[in-house]
Amino acid sequence: MEATVEYSPPPVVDYTDIYEAIMQFNKNKTAFIHQWYPFVEGYSREFIESIINELDYEPTHVLDPFAGSGTTPVELQAMGIKCSSFEVSPFMHLLASTKLNTQYHLSSFERELTRMSGFLRGALLPIRQYMSPPLAKTFQPRKGLKKWVFDQGVMNGILDVKYTISCTDDAKYRSLFNVALASILLDVSNVYRNGKCLSYKKKWQETKMSRREVHERFLAKLEKMKDDIAQIEKSEYLVQNRFDCHYGDVRSSIDVLAEDSIDLVITSPPYLNSRDYTDIYMAELWMLGLVSSYEDIRALRRRTLRSHVQVKLGEVETPEVSKLQESLRALDAVDADLWNEDIPNMIKAYFLDMDLLFKKMKAKMAPSKKVFFNVANSAYYGVKVDVDEIVSEIADQHGFHVEEIREARKLEPSSQQKKQVGKLRESVIVMTS
Ligand SMILES: C[S@@+](CC[C@H](N)C(=O)[O-])C[C@H]1O[C@@H](n2cnc3c(N)ncnc32)[C@H](O)[C@@H]1O
Repeated sequence: MEATVEYSPPPVVDYTDIYEAIMQFNKNKTAFIHQWYPFVEGYSREFIESIINELDYEPTHVLDPFAGSGTTPVELQAMGIKCSSFEVSPFMHLLASTKLNTQYHLSSFERELTRMSGFLRGALLPIRQYMSPPLAKTFQPRKGLKKWVFDQGVMNGILDVKYTISCTDDAKYRSLFNVALASILLDVSNVYRNGKCLSYKKKWQETKMSRREVHERFLAKLEKMKDDIAQIEKSEYLVQNRFDCHYGDVRSSIDVLAEDSIDLVITSPPYLNSRDYTDIYMAELWMLGLVSSYEDIRALRRRTLRSHVQVKLGEVETPEVSKLQESLRALDAVDADLWNEDIPNMIKAYFLDMDLLFKKMKAKMAPSKKVFFNVANSAYYGVKVDVDEIVSEIADQHGFHVEEIREARKLEPSSQQKKQVGKLRESVIVMTS
C-alpha cells in the first residue's frame, strides 16, 4: 500500500511590524505614478520593494495574475524587471496600462493641457448636443428618482471634459486624461466608496458643485501629474511591462504564458468578501464609456473571480480541501432562517477558481521559485473562513511548498460578524514552486 503524507498546515508568523503599513495603497497616494488614481484595494510600492530585497535570487520574469491598478508591474518596470500581468476590468486595465506607458513627452502633454484649459475656461457649449450621458439609470436626476449620482451641472461638466479629451488625437494622451477624469469622478459625485458599495454622502442634496468646478478639478489633477510626466520622459526603461499587461480573465488568459517561464509571483486576488469590483467602480466604467449597457455589466461580472454573489452560480461542487470542508460544515449548522445559499456556493466557487489558478501557475513557473500571495480571511454567519490556510492547502495539492503564512494586518469584519469572530487576519502566503 502506498503511504500517504498527511498535510500539515504552515506556520503563521507575525509580520505586522513590517507589513501593517505597506499592505495598504495609502502610501502610494503621493508616490510617483501610483498617485494618479487613489485605488483602495491595492498594496503599496514598498511591498514590492520589500519582496525584491528579501529574495536570494534576481527575478527575470514576474507574474501578477490580478493587476488591479498596476502596482506590481509599475514598480517592477521602474526596477527593470519584466512582469506579465492580467486584469479583467476594462477600467483597471486602462489604469494599469496607462501608468505603464513610458512614451509621454512633457511638451505634448503641456500643449494638450493648454488646449483643454482654453476650451474648458471659454464659453460653455450646449454640451448635450455633442455628448450623451451614459444610460446608467441612477446617474442623473429624472422623474421619480430620489437619489442620483451626479447633479445636472456636474454631469455637464464631466461631459465637457469628455468632449475635450475626445479632441486629443494621440490615444496614449486620451487614456492619460481619462485616468485623470476617473480620479476626480467620486469627488464631484454625490457618492463615496463605502467598502462593498457606493453610499450617498452626508447632506449630498445641500452641496452643489458647479460645472466650472468640475473643469477646475480636472485641470488641477493634470497640473499635479506634470512632474511625473517630466520624470518619465527623463527616465530610461529597460523593460516595457505594458506590452505584457493583458486584458482578460486570468483563469483562461494565463494560457498565453510559456511553461516554466515565471520565476516570481506577487499578487493579491479579490478577497472572499462579497465585494464586487464591477459595482464599486460603476462610475468609472460608465462615465469613461467602458461599459455601455447593463448586459456589459453582467458580462463583466461573469468574467470576474467568484468572490461575490452578484452572479447566480447554481449548484457548485465542493473542492476536496479539508480546512474548507470544516468551514462549510460549520456554515451548514447555522440557523436556516439566516441562510442565503448563494454564500456557500460563492465560497466553494472562490476556492475552485483558486484551485484552477494554482494548477495553471504551477505549470507556468520554473521550479524552486517564490510566490507571495496576499489574501484575507472572511466570516459569514459567525463562521470564520480561513482563506489563507485553505489556499495554502490548495497550493500544496498542486505541488507548491508553503513555507509560511505571514500575518500582515488585523482587519475589522462587518459589524454583524465582529462580536462572534473578532478581527480577521490579512496575510501574505509565502511558497515555493
Ligand atoms: C485586490 S485587486 C489587485 C490590486 C493590486 N495588487 C494593486 O495594488 O492595485 C484584485 C483585482 O483582480 C481583478 N480581477 C478579478 N477577477 C479577475 C479575473 N478573473 N482575471 C483577472 N483579474 C481579475 C479585479 O478587477 C481587481 O482589479
